[in-house]
Amino acid sequence: MRSILRRFTAVLAAATLLALPVAAIAQSSAPPAGPAAAPSVPMAGPDAQAQRQRAQPGNNAPVWRGVNSDMEHTTTLPRHEGGRLIQREGERWRQLRNGPVTQLGGWALIVVVIAIGAFYAIRGQMKLHGPKTGRVVERFTIVERTVHWSMAISFVLLAVTGLALLFGKHVVVPVLGHGVFSWIAAASKLVHNYIGPLFSVCVLIGFLTFVRDNIPNRGDLVWVKAAGGLFNGTHVPSHRFNAGEKTWFWGGLFVLGIAVSVSGFVLDFPNFEQTRAQMQLAWTVHAIGALLFVLAACGHIYMGTVGVEGAYRAMKTGYVDETWAREHHEWWYDDVASGRIPAQRCAAPGPAGTPDRAQPV
Ligand code: HEM
Repeated sequence: MRSILRRFTAVLAAATLLALPVAAIAQSSAPPAGPAAAPSVPMAGPDAQAQRQRAQPGNNAPVWRGVNSDMEHTTTLPRHEGGRLIQREGERWRQLRNGPVTQLGGWALIVVVIAIGAFYAIRGQMKLHGPKTGRVVERFTIVERTVHWSMAISFVLLAVTGLALLFGKHVVVPVLGHGVFSWIAAASKLVHNYIGPLFSVCVLIGFLTFVRDNIPNRGDLVWVKAAGGLFNGTHVPSHRFNAGEKTWFWGGLFVLGIAVSVSGFVLDFPNFEQTRAQMQLAWTVHAIGALLFVLAACGHIYMGTVGVEGAYRAMKTGYVDETWAREHHEWWYDDVASGRIPAQRCAAPGPAGTPDRAQPV
């Protein structure tokens, strides 16, 4: 974006410089005649400008018409695309950004947030059926939790700043005005540009950390057929991660993670001879991918916090009650209990203790 703006400013300067000598030559050679009729069909280029200059001194419309055409020009702009002063597809990109992407994206966000709120109001929190055992099982190691929260924190920062940049002029400006929004936009851009590459690295490490337990298998069909018991509360067995979590892993972290990361790098480092058209394509992939990512993350965050009793505790402390393990991931629990999967099992901590300090039993 910055490169486009910088280039656009250079284009304006170049075009103005281009117009001045043409105007000067035309003026010096023009006879002091009365007003000539303007051509009925608008023309572009130096001849047309000279003609216009005689009729309406100071009117540079033919030069600008030439600039805003597909004619090949010569400028002092460095490197590629220097001969193309105005990239006219940019207008189509601007309309796509301010039109469908902003409008559909905004509505999709509103609808998803309302749908999740309605689901919670009707279904309530997914509670455990049986009583807690007082014994806990290690679900996530400290390394897994650190990786997870690095992804989550950087993602939230990117989501907040990205949404501010896309929707700010429609949401922030009417409430807080242009002055406040200019600060928010400048800060958002800075945070977004620097956290973006960090997030990509976190996602890569996250992929390597969790991929082993996210490989699809036959057992996932059981979960899919019962829709995970989301609607009727039935108990559906699964391995360490169920089909819903695997969908988030492959669709969100993997596919959308690659889409936003690759397009983000193209936008973040515009010094690799990217053309303006390539930057516009990268922006389109980035914005649509990021909006889908945020929508999917709303579902994941809901399930990981208020949606499922005990889920947040798993990612916060690393431990879950054995009843939770059996009711949500029965096959994984069986593997842990039989020793096939090495995971610590402990007595639940006292009120002041943390599961990490609990004694193994
Ligand atoms: C910001 C708010 C977030 C919260 C509150 C949250 C919460 C959770 C919780 C509680 C779990 C454990 C679920 C279980 O025990 O089965 C989990 C798992 C996971 N989360 Fe998050 N999360 C957040 C954001 C993210 C983001 C942004 C990503 C990736 C870009 C992510 C990727 C994962 C992965 C890969 C797992 C392991 C399960 C799987 O592979 O699907 N989370 N999260």
